[in-house]
Amino acid sequence: MKNAGSILAVDDNPENLRFLHVLLKEQGYQARTTLYGEMALKAACRKPPDLILLDIMMTGMDGYEVCEKLKADDRTRDIPVIFISALDEMPDRVKAFSLGGVDFIIKPFVKEDLLARVSTHLRIRSLQQDLYKRNTELVREIAERKRAEDDLHKAKEALETANIGLERRVLDELEKRQRQQMLLIQKSKLESLGKLAAGIAHEINQPLSAISMGLDNIIFSVSSDSASVDETTAAYLRKETGHLFEDVERIDHIIKHIKTFSREQESVVLEPVDVNEVCVNALSMIKTRYKNHDVEIVWKPGENIRSVTGNKYKLEQVVLNLLSNAGDAVEEKQAGSENMPYNKQIEIRTFCDGNRVCLEVWDNGAGIPEDILENIFDPFFTTKPLESGSGLGLSISYGIVREMGGDIGVESEQGDHTVMRVLLPGIENGKTENTDCR
Ligand SMILES: Nc1ncnc2c1ncn2[C@@H]1O[C@H](COP(=O)(O)OP(=O)(O)OP(=O)(O)O)[C@@H](O)[C@H]1O
Ligand SMILES: [Mg+2]
Repeated sequence: MKNAGSILAVDDNPENLRFLHVLLKEQGYQARTTLYGEMALKAACRKPPDLILLDIMMTGMDGYEVCEKLKADDRTRDIPVIFISALDEMPDRVKAFSLGGVDFIIKPFVKEDLLARVSTHLRIRSLQQDLYKRNTELVREIAERKRAEDDLHKAKEALETANIGLERRVLDELEKRQRQQMLLIQKSKLESLGKLAAGIAHEINQPLSAISMGLDNIIFSVSSDSASVDETTAAYLRKETGHLFEDVERIDHIIKHIKTFSREQESVVLEPVDVNEVCVNALSMIKTRYKNHDVEIVWKPGENIRSVTGNKYKLEQVVLNLLSNAGDAVEEKQAGSENMPYNKQIEIRTFCDGNRVCLEVWDNGAGIPEDILENIFDPFFTTKPLESGSGLGLSISYGIVREMGGDIGVESEQGDHTVMRVLLPGIENGKTENTDCR
């Protein structure tokens, strides 16, 4: 027989109860019966039925109280209760419904009527249960979706962050590669240029020595007692050869420059270098040129200056470049100031800066415009006319100073002054101190 639902019938009249039991069984319901309210509660809690048919007037606990207790218990709260009673007054019905009953059947009842109501409420109960189940599933599904959405959102955010990081890394990497490529191109350009320059310098050196010797011979001839020229011609020749010597010296200077640049110089020895001594040597080479041009040169050597590690000829090259630039700068300013009185001054000084040795060349010349300050160390950057500037002085000096583990910087005010500052790591007990000047 099909299971149409389980029903608990409660009535203190055994006759009624038997009738109900038979009737429900015939319809395929699982019917349980009980005569007392207390027992009905126990039976309902132990094994909750799908529906309860409950008499009101009973000995002991009446139907109202049973219903009240059923509704107060979580296990039995949702079981539909149909009251069956001989009480037919409106207040009885109202009370039955207000306590949670779903229907009210008056005794004596027509069995078809009772069965129809039982069937309807069982159906409603079943639909409610389905609905409840579906609802619970929906709530669970919504919660799961919400969780999945949250996870998705978090994953998306993490992905976006990772993406930004990746983009930045790719850009950094690209930029780094581009820089490296530029450096490589620059390096290979400089290398080939260096080789070419070294070749040219070598070729020029020989005829230059010949010119120099020729000039010496002329001077010797016109100065000797047996000279066949008159005094005016001799004076003229001496003056002109003097100029030519200056030009030869200039060409020689340029060749030395190029040799340094092409690194073809005699094998470089690294040794402790006395910076003050280097400055004195550089000054001795250049001071006549400045004296002739009314440039006042002040030399302020620092005391107890540490030695630095490097090559004294290369460092001399740096000092000469800085002094030469300072000389050009004061000349440029004078050319610009027309008839205004102007005292051309250059000062070279050394001092200690912690463990480092500082060498400064100051001039009160034309100064450097701010917009080109960052270019002055670039190879071939020059603001001077083609015949007087190759634009290599500072780039070579920069390379030499970096090779010595130091740094070179500039401070300038246009139209007022320029200070070129070289910082080199000093040696203590024969060991080079670490330095980072930037
Ligand atoms: N003391 C200074 N005062 C003003 N400008 C300077 C000074 N030192 C350098 N400069 C500027 O920096 C530029 C580059 O200097 P750098 O010594 O490299 O080349 P250069 O002097 O032009 O040519 P080179 O030294 O090869 O003969 C100069 O052309 C000049 O514009
Ligand atoms: Mg220069």
